Amino acid sequence: MSEKQNIVWHEAEVTKQERRTHNGHQSFILWFTGLSASGKSTVANRVASSLFQQGKQVYVLDGDNIRHGLNNDLGFNEEDRKENIRRIGEVSKLFVDSGQIVLTAFISPYREDRNLVRKLVRPEEFLEVFVKCSLEECEKRDPKGLYKKARNQEITQFTGISAPYEEPENPEIILDTEKHSIEECVESLLLELKQKQLI
Ligand code: ADX
Repeated sequence: MSEKQNIVWHEAEVTKQERRTHNGHQSFILWFTGLSASGKSTVANRVASSLFQQGKQVYVLDGDNIRHGLNNDLGFNEEDRKENIRRIGEVSKLFVDSGQIVLTAFISPYREDRNLVRKLVRPEEFLEVFVKCSLEECEKRDPKGLYKKARNQEITQFTGISAPYEEPENPEIILDTEKHSIEECVESLLLELKQKQLI
Protein backbone atom coordinates (compact mmCIF):
# COMPACT_ATOMS: atom_id res chain seq x y z
CA MET A 1 0.00 0.00 0.00
CA SER A 2 1.36 3.40 -0.89
CA GLU A 3 2.02 5.73 2.04
CA LYS A 4 0.04 8.37 0.16
CA GLN A 5 -3.16 6.49 0.96
CA ASN A 6 -2.73 7.48 4.60
CA ILE A 7 -2.76 11.20 3.80
CA VAL A 8 -6.17 12.82 3.99
CA TRP A 9 -6.95 16.33 2.68
CA HIS A 10 -7.85 18.79 5.44
CA GLU A 11 -10.27 21.52 4.36
CA ALA A 12 -9.16 25.03 5.26
CA GLU A 13 -11.42 27.05 7.57
CA VAL A 14 -10.67 30.31 5.79
CA THR A 15 -11.63 29.82 2.15
CA LYS A 16 -10.04 31.23 -0.99
CA GLN A 17 -13.20 33.26 -1.60
CA GLU A 18 -13.10 34.76 1.89
CA ARG A 19 -9.47 35.73 1.37
CA ARG A 20 -10.31 37.35 -1.98
CA THR A 21 -13.16 39.30 -0.45
CA HIS A 22 -10.86 40.41 2.37
CA ASN A 23 -8.21 41.55 -0.14
CA GLY A 24 -10.76 43.16 -2.44
CA HIS A 25 -9.47 41.55 -5.63
CA GLN A 26 -9.17 38.31 -7.56
CA SER A 27 -6.21 36.00 -7.10
CA PHE A 28 -4.43 34.51 -10.10
CA ILE A 29 -1.09 33.61 -11.68
CA LEU A 30 0.69 35.84 -14.20
CA TRP A 31 3.05 33.30 -15.73
CA PHE A 32 5.88 35.11 -17.54
CA THR A 33 7.84 33.01 -20.02
CA GLY A 34 10.64 33.97 -22.38
CA LEU A 35 14.35 33.74 -23.09
CA SER A 36 16.97 34.77 -20.55
CA ALA A 37 17.36 38.58 -20.76
CA SER A 38 13.99 39.02 -22.49
CA GLY A 39 12.81 41.19 -19.57
CA LYS A 40 10.58 38.80 -17.60
CA SER A 41 11.84 39.75 -14.13
CA THR A 42 12.01 43.46 -14.89
CA VAL A 43 8.44 43.68 -16.18
CA ALA A 44 7.09 41.31 -13.49
CA ASN A 45 8.68 43.38 -10.71
CA ARG A 46 7.46 46.70 -12.12
CA VAL A 47 3.92 45.36 -12.49
CA ALA A 48 4.05 43.93 -8.96
CA SER A 49 5.26 47.24 -7.60
CA SER A 50 2.44 49.13 -9.30
CA LEU A 51 -0.18 46.66 -8.05
CA PHE A 52 1.30 46.81 -4.55
CA GLN A 53 0.99 50.59 -4.56
CA GLN A 54 -2.67 50.15 -5.48
CA GLY A 55 -3.07 48.10 -2.29
CA LYS A 56 -3.12 44.65 -3.89
CA GLN A 57 -1.55 41.54 -2.37
CA VAL A 58 1.22 40.54 -4.80
CA TYR A 59 4.36 38.44 -4.84
CA VAL A 60 7.03 37.72 -7.46
CA LEU A 61 8.62 34.29 -7.80
CA ASP A 62 11.79 34.66 -9.85
CA GLY A 63 13.90 31.87 -11.38
CA ASP A 64 17.29 33.18 -10.35
CA ASN A 65 16.11 33.71 -6.75
CA ILE A 66 14.15 30.49 -6.29
CA ARG A 67 17.13 28.53 -7.61
CA HIS A 68 19.12 29.89 -4.63
CA GLY A 69 16.69 28.32 -2.15
CA LEU A 70 13.72 26.02 -2.74
CA ASN A 71 15.14 24.72 -6.03
CA ASN A 72 18.87 24.83 -5.29
CA ASP A 73 19.05 21.10 -5.91
CA LEU A 74 18.05 21.50 -9.58
CA GLY A 75 20.13 22.08 -12.69
CA PHE A 76 19.23 22.82 -16.29
CA ASN A 77 18.68 19.46 -17.95
CA GLU A 78 15.18 18.76 -19.23
CA GLU A 79 14.14 16.73 -16.20
CA ASP A 80 15.33 19.33 -13.69
CA ARG A 81 13.66 22.18 -15.56
CA LYS A 82 10.45 20.15 -15.54
CA GLU A 83 10.71 19.69 -11.77
CA ASN A 84 11.59 23.38 -11.36
CA ILE A 85 8.38 24.39 -13.11
CA ARG A 86 6.26 21.72 -11.38
CA ARG A 87 7.30 22.98 -7.94
CA ILE A 88 6.76 26.62 -8.89
CA GLY A 89 3.36 25.67 -10.29
CA GLU A 90 2.38 24.10 -6.98
CA VAL A 91 3.73 27.06 -5.00
CA SER A 92 1.85 29.46 -7.29
CA LYS A 93 -1.35 27.50 -6.73
CA LEU A 94 -0.90 28.03 -2.98
CA PHE A 95 -0.54 31.76 -3.58
CA VAL A 96 -3.80 31.77 -5.56
CA ASP A 97 -5.44 29.87 -2.72
CA SER A 98 -4.11 32.48 -0.28
CA GLY A 99 -5.93 35.20 -2.24
CA GLN A 100 -2.86 36.80 -3.80
CA ILE A 101 -1.69 37.77 -7.26
CA VAL A 102 1.49 35.83 -8.02
CA LEU A 103 3.84 36.77 -10.83
CA THR A 104 6.32 34.11 -11.90
CA ALA A 105 9.43 34.86 -13.96
CA PHE A 106 10.95 31.62 -15.22
CA ILE A 107 12.22 30.80 -18.70
CA SER A 108 9.93 27.74 -18.55
CA PRO A 109 11.04 26.67 -22.03
CA TYR A 110 8.78 23.63 -22.45
CA ARG A 111 5.19 24.06 -23.60
CA GLU A 112 4.14 20.86 -21.88
CA ASP A 113 5.46 22.00 -18.49
CA ARG A 114 3.66 25.36 -18.74
CA ASN A 115 0.44 23.61 -19.76
CA LEU A 116 0.69 21.32 -16.73
CA VAL A 117 0.75 24.41 -14.49
CA ARG A 118 -2.22 25.86 -16.39
CA LYS A 119 -4.19 22.72 -15.57
CA LEU A 120 -3.36 22.96 -11.84
CA VAL A 121 -5.71 25.92 -11.37
CA ARG A 122 -9.03 27.15 -12.77
CA PRO A 123 -8.93 28.55 -16.33
CA GLU A 124 -9.43 32.16 -15.18
CA GLU A 125 -6.62 31.85 -12.63
CA PHE A 126 -3.77 31.37 -15.11
CA LEU A 127 -2.54 33.95 -17.60
CA GLU A 128 0.45 33.10 -19.74
CA VAL A 129 2.50 36.21 -20.50
CA PHE A 130 4.89 35.68 -23.38
CA VAL A 131 7.80 38.11 -23.06
CA LYS A 132 8.81 38.23 -26.68
CA CYS A 133 12.34 39.17 -27.67
CA SER A 134 14.54 37.69 -30.37
CA LEU A 135 17.56 35.61 -29.47
CA GLU A 136 19.75 38.15 -31.29
CA GLU A 137 18.50 40.98 -29.08
CA CYS A 138 18.76 38.93 -25.85
CA GLU A 139 22.29 38.00 -26.80
CA LYS A 140 23.10 41.64 -27.44
CA ARG A 141 21.75 42.63 -24.01
CA ASP A 142 23.48 39.74 -22.21
CA PRO A 143 23.33 41.47 -18.78
CA LYS A 144 24.89 38.53 -16.94
CA GLY A 145 27.40 37.57 -19.64
CA LEU A 146 25.79 34.13 -19.87
CA TYR A 147 25.20 34.09 -23.63
CA LYS A 148 28.88 34.76 -24.15
CA LYS A 149 29.77 31.87 -21.83
CA ALA A 150 27.24 29.64 -23.62
CA ARG A 151 28.78 30.48 -27.02
CA ASN A 152 32.20 29.60 -25.59
CA GLN A 153 30.73 26.35 -24.24
CA GLU A 154 31.56 27.36 -20.67
CA ILE A 155 27.84 26.81 -19.94
CA THR A 156 26.03 23.85 -21.46
CA GLN A 157 22.33 23.41 -22.15
CA PHE A 158 21.80 27.15 -22.35
CA THR A 159 18.31 28.13 -23.53
CA GLY A 160 18.32 29.47 -27.07
CA ILE A 161 21.91 28.36 -27.73
CA SER A 162 22.25 24.73 -26.73
CA ALA A 163 18.79 24.00 -25.31
CA PRO A 164 15.36 24.67 -26.83
CA TYR A 165 12.79 27.36 -26.14
CA GLU A 166 9.25 26.52 -27.21
CA GLU A 167 7.21 29.67 -27.79
CA PRO A 168 3.68 29.72 -26.37
CA GLU A 169 1.02 28.93 -28.97
CA ASN A 170 -1.88 30.74 -27.34
CA PRO A 171 -0.61 33.06 -24.61
CA GLU A 172 -3.20 35.32 -22.98
CA ILE A 173 -0.79 38.25 -23.28
CA ILE A 174 2.23 39.03 -25.49
CA LEU A 175 4.70 41.73 -24.47
CA ASP A 176 7.28 42.59 -27.10
CA THR A 177 10.24 44.08 -25.24
CA GLU A 178 12.16 44.55 -28.45
CA LYS A 179 9.58 46.87 -29.99
CA HIS A 180 8.27 48.48 -26.81
CA SER A 181 9.84 50.04 -23.73
CA ILE A 182 9.52 48.41 -20.30
CA GLU A 183 7.09 51.18 -19.27
CA GLU A 184 4.89 50.49 -22.31
CA CYS A 185 4.88 46.76 -21.56
CA VAL A 186 3.95 47.39 -17.91
CA GLU A 187 1.12 49.73 -18.94
CA SER A 188 -0.26 47.34 -21.52
CA LEU A 189 -0.27 44.45 -19.06
CA LEU A 190 -2.04 46.54 -16.40
CA LEU A 191 -4.60 47.64 -18.98
CA GLU A 192 -5.17 44.05 -20.04
CA LEU A 193 -5.81 43.03 -16.41
CA LYS A 194 -8.34 45.86 -16.05
CA GLN A 195 -10.10 44.86 -19.26
CA LYS A 196 -10.33 41.29 -18.03
CA GLN A 197 -11.75 42.70 -14.76
CA LEU A 198 -9.05 40.99 -12.75
CA ILE A 199 -7.99 44.19 -11.01
S1 ADX B 1 14.02 27.31 -16.39
O1 ADX B 1 14.41 26.99 -17.77
O2 ADX B 1 14.20 26.15 -15.50
O3 ADX B 1 12.66 27.87 -16.32
P1 ADX B 1 14.91 29.46 -14.70
O4 ADX B 1 14.04 30.59 -15.12
O5 ADX B 1 14.56 28.74 -13.45
O6 ADX B 1 15.05 28.45 -15.95
O7 ADX B 1 16.41 29.98 -14.54
C1 ADX B 1 16.98 30.72 -15.58
C2 ADX B 1 18.14 31.56 -15.08
O8 ADX B 1 19.21 30.74 -14.68
C3 ADX B 1 18.65 32.43 -16.21
O9 ADX B 1 18.12 33.73 -16.15
C4 ADX B 1 20.14 32.45 -16.00
O10 ADX B 1 20.51 33.56 -15.19
C5 ADX B 1 20.45 31.21 -15.21
N1 ADX B 1 21.04 30.08 -15.99
C6 ADX B 1 22.15 29.41 -15.64
N2 ADX B 1 22.40 28.39 -16.48
C7 ADX B 1 21.40 28.41 -17.41
C8 ADX B 1 21.12 27.59 -18.56
N3 ADX B 1 21.88 26.57 -18.92
N4 ADX B 1 20.03 27.91 -19.32
C9 ADX B 1 19.26 28.96 -18.97
N5 ADX B 1 19.47 29.75 -17.90
C10 ADX B 1 20.54 29.48 -17.11
